[in-house]
Amino acid sequence: MTKRRTGLRFGFELNYTTLYLGGSSIDRYGVPLTDETVELAKKSDAVLMGSIGGDPATSPWYRLEPSKRPEAGLLGIRKALGLFANLRFSKLYDDLKDSCPLKESIADEGIDFVILRELTGGLYFGEHKTEVVNGEEVATDVLAYTESEIRRIAVKAFDTAMLRGKKLTLVDKANVLDSSRLWRKVVAQVAKDYPEVTVENMFVDNASMQLVRRPSQFDVVLTENMFGDILSDEASMVTGSIGMQPSASLAEGTFGLYEPSHGSAPDIAGKDLANPLATILSAAMMLRYSLGEEEAACAIEQAVENVLKRYRTPDLVTQNAEIETVGCIRMGDLVAEAV
Ligand code: IPM
Ligand code: MG
Repeated sequence: MTKRRTGLRFGFELNYTTLYLGGSSIDRYGVPLTDETVELAKKSDAVLMGSIGGDPATSPWYRLEPSKRPEAGLLGIRKALGLFANLRFSKLYDDLKDSCPLKESIADEGIDFVILRELTGGLYFGEHKTEVVNGEEVATDVLAYTESEIRRIAVKAFDTAMLRGKKLTLVDKANVLDSSRLWRKVVAQVAKDYPEVTVENMFVDNASMQLVRRPSQFDVVLTENMFGDILSDEASMVTGSIGMQPSASLAEGTFGLYEPSHGSAPDIAGKDLANPLATILSAAMMLRYSLGEEEAACAIEQAVENVLKRYRTPDLVTQNAEIETVGCIRMGDLVAEAV
């Protein structure tokens, strides 16, 4: 409804096609991703995706081999659509300071950064195999990056930094990994074209500590696929809840897939408890990056900010008695009304 209201107010209309991915695709077609979904997605200007996965303990999807499970659908569509740059924003709204799990003095310094996670390379897409060697099982996952894979996301990260605070932190494990040393080399080359951007290198273990020690130091964080997966969950929580973190997965050009950073939270499914804001904010990003509707994107973000002054879903802890706790449906309606 938020999308329709926004379209009405800003004078554009969106045409929707429903595509199946992950569990819903397994239920219909027996596989987590079909060629038809890929083809129709390619014909679209953008894809807005729900969350992926079910409860591994109870869902029949998890009795399938790994390559047939819901997550394989998500990885498959990322690769098929060339979505190499994943942007995950962490912004602490003024009105959410009391939901931030960090000390007040840290929250007061402000939190506003974006993680650029490489999304179609690294460990996720290297060879995976399990074999028996000398009588015991050996499992192998290959972490490989080419210069060009690193360069294209580095360019995206520097472009992003130029539109923000002009500070870029490259997060890696260059004290141990060859791939990280290549990242440093390529990023240093790209940096020459962006003399205004301050570049800093940080080891991933240190970065995970700095994210809770002083998150205000970050503006643009650039990192490879696996580190970005881990750090972006941590980064979402410092702004109150993973239910607040939108994400954009971008290809070359303006095409993108937009999804909340969180999973499908099977433990609260069907209970009207989920926070819809990460999805709504992902839709705002879709309007901005893929559909060129900046004003409409800002209107949604502003509506979310306004609604949070009075209402929260249960994941956003607050001691403030003035705040009303609402369910997922009502939260969606409130944002639509505020738009
Ligand atoms: C994410 C998710 C996925 C990932 C899973 C569901 C495969 O955790 O988007 O962060 O690891 O990329
Ligand atoms: Mg993740």
